Amino acid sequence: MSPGAGSALTFLAAAVHAKAVAEIGTGAGVSGLYLLRGMAADGVLTSVDLEAEHQRLAREAFVAAGFPPQRYRLITGSALDVLPRLIDHGYDLVLIDGDKVEYGEYFDEALRLIRPGGMIIFDNALWHDRVADPSQRDPQTTAIRELISRVRADETLRSVVIPLGDGLLAVQVGS
Ligand SMILES: C[S@@+](CC[C@H](N)C(=O)[O-])C[C@H]1O[C@@H](n2cnc3c(N)ncnc32)[C@H](O)[C@@H]1O
Repeated sequence: MSPGAGSALTFLAAAVHAKAVAEIGTGAGVSGLYLLRGMAADGVLTSVDLEAEHQRLAREAFVAAGFPPQRYRLITGSALDVLPRLIDHGYDLVLIDGDKVEYGEYFDEALRLIRPGGMIIFDNALWHDRVADPSQRDPQTTAIRELISRVRADETLRSVVIPLGDGLLAVQVGS
């Protein structure tokens, strides 16, 4: 995640007064750090990743940045197995940065997890400029393109693609 996109995440987490954030794709904790900086001082980041080794690196990064362990909960597992166990409408913000092919299924889960007025954010909305190029039809590009079309067609949602880094698609769910 680029510093520009990360700053946008910090800003959006602060704008929705995020106390509870769910993240798909912990990675090495870069996006997690940007989210934690914008969240309420007692807010908790719940982050899911398939790879325990990635989460070990993220934990190191959170410790090094001075965030106490009660500020984050790292769950190792496949997002589509873990997300159904998270509480309905219990999250102020959901960040999605896992397997691009599964973005549509993550969106279904995120719509259940998010509280009214909350925000769902997808990283890689531009997907290396492939989404805007109709000749690109690989599964990742197609999944992101279909997601953006679905969001735009739904009049109950407000959305914007923020062209920072590899693009963020931010979706606000009715308040
Ligand atoms: C681009 S990286 C995330 C980077 C992270 N958000 C950051 O800024 O540091 C994508 C992550 O998604 C994880 N991932 C891929 N497929 C997944 C799945 N089905 N369920 C959960 N995590 C998955 C990968 O292991 C990887 O760590």
